[in-house]
Amino acid sequence: MKALILAGGFGTRLHPISCTRPKHLFPIANKPLIDLTLERLAKCGVKEVVLAVNFMAHILENTLGESRHGMTLRYSRDVALGRETKQLSQGALGTGGSVKQAEKLLREKKSFFVLNGDILTNSDYMKIMEEHQNNEKIATIALHRVKDPSRYGVVELKETNCIERFIEKPSENPPSNLANAGIYIFNQEIFNYIPANKRCSIEREIFPKLAEEDELFGHEIKDLWIDVGKPADFIKANRLWLEAGMASNINSMKARLGKNTEIKDSVAIEEDATIGQNSIIGPNVSLGKDVFVGYEVRIKDSIIFPHTIISDFTTINGSIIGESVSIGKKVKIERGCLIGDYALIHDNVTLAQNVKICPSKKISEDILKPTSIM
Ligand code: GTP
Repeated sequence: MKALILAGGFGTRLHPISCTRPKHLFPIANKPLIDLTLERLAKCGVKEVVLAVNFMAHILENTLGESRHGMTLRYSRDVALGRETKQLSQGALGTGGSVKQAEKLLREKKSFFVLNGDILTNSDYMKIMEEHQNNEKIATIALHRVKDPSRYGVVELKETNCIERFIEKPSENPPSNLANAGIYIFNQEIFNYIPANKRCSIEREIFPKLAEEDELFGHEIKDLWIDVGKPADFIKANRLWLEAGMASNINSMKARLGKNTEIKDSVAIEEDATIGQNSIIGPNVSLGKDVFVGYEVRIKDSIIFPHTIISDFTTINGSIIGESVSIGKKVKIERGCLIGDYALIHDNVTLAQNVKICPSKKISEDILKPTSIM
């Protein structure tokens, strides 16, 4: 069986951390998000995965290579043929156009999986496949109940679980709180609905049409599920994964811990991390490879990418700190901050809520309002 993972979006809502890597490589409990998806597909018996790539395609290709977890990996780039100019262009094809672009690589079996690459779930994809095979429709989409349907595609279901209407990001009166979970199974006929060499949104252009034709089936999943689109989602995804005990790679106690260091569950700490004495780490913290934490540091609800240094008496709350960042002593980083790779934050600086620092910036003064430092 084959699967296509959509992994070519720009991830603009996660700037500036996503300026230097695709969001699919962001770590959840210190493992790349996409690797968790690949692991799950391998467990479901998938043999070949096609990655639809565009933004920073080379980073994904170099990191993941040609096989993973016993599956063959292939790449489909969003190269579009300009209609007027007949020239190849490197524009993003959108969620529909990139499915069409991969058509030749997905021919073989009647049905295949398509997954949004920015979803974290422990759902059993095979259950959705079984449901699809019982229902003779062109497409099945997994649905998940959410509190705020306005940020998702929302469906109105018939009693048969066929989708009556599909509305992308409804601004008012959503027909239900059942949202598109970004996990689909398509039959080969799907390719007849998507134009070639053209940008197309599967959510806005194809699903509403399939619903009208009674060819779209909905399957509710009740498992752990989160869409990792915004910084707060990423921190929440890390917490849910840790709390659910899904992070099999954790061996925090192997890290070098100073005297009186307190580790509050749940955390993921790479074994080569160092934490100085009297520091308090957790709950919901991931410390990546080779992270160095000084004395009396307090970190909670945060994700720290590899090779970052956090000096003595610093506090970090609800923030994401990129790779190889240097944070001085007595720095205070408040909720919602995003610090790009290689940034340098000098001693005694306070960053108030929602400050974003671009990669390699040097910050020597307090920033007390939500701002992006470019
Ligand atoms: P934002 O820029 O923050 O909205 O993120 P995004 O561009 O990743 O968009 P979105 O979260 O809606 O995308 C859902 C999934 O589809 C993600 O895994 C994206 O990487 C992927 N995706 C979105 N647009 C494209 C595209 O044009 N081409 C390809 N190949 N994948 C895409």
